[in-house]
Amino acid sequence: MNKTLRKAVIAGNWKMNKTPSEAKALLNEIVPLVADADCEVIACVPYVDLAVAVEAVKGTNIKIGAENAHWEQSGAFTGEISTGMLKEVGVEYVVLGHSERRQYFGETDETVNKRTKAVLKAGLKPIVCVGELLWERECNITEEVIARQIKLDLFDVSAEDVKNVIIAYEPVWAIGTGRTATDDQAEEVCAFIRAEIAKLYGQEIADGMTIQYGGSMNDGNAAALLSKENVDGGLIGGASLVAAKFAAIVKAASV
Ligand code: 13P
Repeated sequence: MNKTLRKAVIAGNWKMNKTPSEAKALLNEIVPLVADADCEVIACVPYVDLAVAVEAVKGTNIKIGAENAHWEQSGAFTGEISTGMLKEVGVEYVVLGHSERRQYFGETDETVNKRTKAVLKAGLKPIVCVGELLWERECNITEEVIARQIKLDLFDVSAEDVKNVIIAYEPVWAIGTGRTATDDQAEEVCAFIRAEIAKLYGQEIADGMTIQYGGSMNDGNAAALLSKENVDGGLIGGASLVAAKFAAIVKAASV
């Protein structure tokens, strides 16, 4: 990462893990371990954990994020949560377009775009996930896939608003598989994403944008990934559920 141009952001994505009491216990463990972090630290937790999580990190350097948000403020959308609800609870970040939502729950670039705009309008910060399938990488269309996702997911997002967007590059084949992208693969695509952002919004905005890597990032490989110029942080799944591992990643981002 390039710390002179941007701030590193380490975010845990807890996915469907931890009950409220377990969330409180895990955050209580994490808080002292990351207290002197020189990067942004976020925990994105299940909806029912949000209130407890916000309370647990009050007065600390940890921010809380949700794992999705709907684009409407209210109405007949069974099972969905609005940005207003998240704001009132004290959420600051929202993961959007995660590949698990795209794969298992029919999320499309169109819905990711609507959610992104709603999250920004509410003054929350979206972590927009993009990434190619293994098949797409093997067919040599990684860049096409990523460029398309970036264009569609950020369609109609203004230059002012895009400054509050974090992009997470998560190659789908590296998520939960233990198969991390190599440092060079991560750097190559993160640099490509920055170049696409520059085309859409200009170099200055692109230089300031935080672009995370996600996919089997852990305490063992984080330092090498984060040493790359365009890898500005991580979106961490499994390793974010173990306080010591998450804290080690935060430490790697703080040097
Ligand atoms: P893992 O770190 O468990 O591979 O998950 C990555 C991820 O999907 C984060 O959003």
